[in-house]
Amino acid sequence: MQTTDTQITPFAIDVLEGLNLPQKAISSKYFYDAKGDQLFQQIMQMPEYYLTNCEHEVFIDQQELICETFGAFDVPFNLIEFGAGDGLKTKILLRYLMEKNADFVYYPVDISMNILNELQISLRGMFPNIKMHSLNMDYFEAIQHLSALKERRNITLFLGSNIGNFHFNQAQDFISKLNHFSNPGDLLMIGIDLKKDPEIIKNAYNDPHGITAAFNLNLLHRMNRELDADFNIKQFKHVAVYDEPTGEMLSYIKSLTDQTVVLKELDQSVSFSEGETIHTEISKKYSLSELELLAERCNYRVVHHFLDNKQYFTDTVWECE
Ligand code: AVJ
Repeated sequence: MQTTDTQITPFAIDVLEGLNLPQKAISSKYFYDAKGDQLFQQIMQMPEYYLTNCEHEVFIDQQELICETFGAFDVPFNLIEFGAGDGLKTKILLRYLMEKNADFVYYPVDISMNILNELQISLRGMFPNIKMHSLNMDYFEAIQHLSALKERRNITLFLGSNIGNFHFNQAQDFISKLNHFSNPGDLLMIGIDLKKDPEIIKNAYNDPHGITAAFNLNLLHRMNRELDADFNIKQFKHVAVYDEPTGEMLSYIKSLTDQTVVLKELDQSVSFSEGETIHTEISKKYSLSELELLAERCNYRVVHHFLDNKQYFTDTVWECE
């Protein structure tokens, strides 16, 4: 018998839809439950996942220049951050801004309540006077909320290669929406992984420790936990394929056998044939010229590409025209 207090969550709705598509798919935004947050923290500490270290280096080495480019001490501003996560890199900027008495309000946006709470506690500890408002929602919901913030200059951060979760056209749509709510002179900084030797990229998403596999397969655990499903995790495998022309690392969960899974909470059973996949993530890599094209299409002027020493990663700053 169905209980009457059952919550139909956005996760339940999206899984129901996604597992009924011809190419099964579940959005990567659902990776980030408590366990997923933990696994992603471990990914960022692996040497194979070079992205975090490269971006960290950019912020450590070039924080002064970044703040200068931002004009951070000229006029009051809002510092909006999509996908703030643990704030590892942003904290470098925040420390510099707080020490030099910049006048700003920080708006971290994150889909994970856990990580956002941790960030808030840690920032209030580090900077008791910081002005901040956390937004626990996805990017599109956040854009709606933030569109009201027009009285101050907006500086928006989109770090950690998070925008790589979009295809080029989706990124263009999202950034155009952002541009639509911006004033001339507002800034956008995008931290994004660059195209490079495919072997280096493949290693980052097929690590020998199995942490990325656990991160991807945690989606099955999450369905078991939250949707009362009976996925047998051992009958599935993590697969990540790099498409060199587009720079898209595509992640999948692959069924190792013909099998049927029951999701009690959804009142559904889903069949998999051997080798069938659930598409779970896209992690797109860019070239600098592609980024310049993206900026132009979204009505921004490229101000500066900050790069790490190996030139694996860029934090590119654009100004709204
Ligand atoms: C957090 C979306 C930037 O795509 O590189 C890491 C997530 N997936 N390993 C990425 C991820 C597999 C990550 N982002």
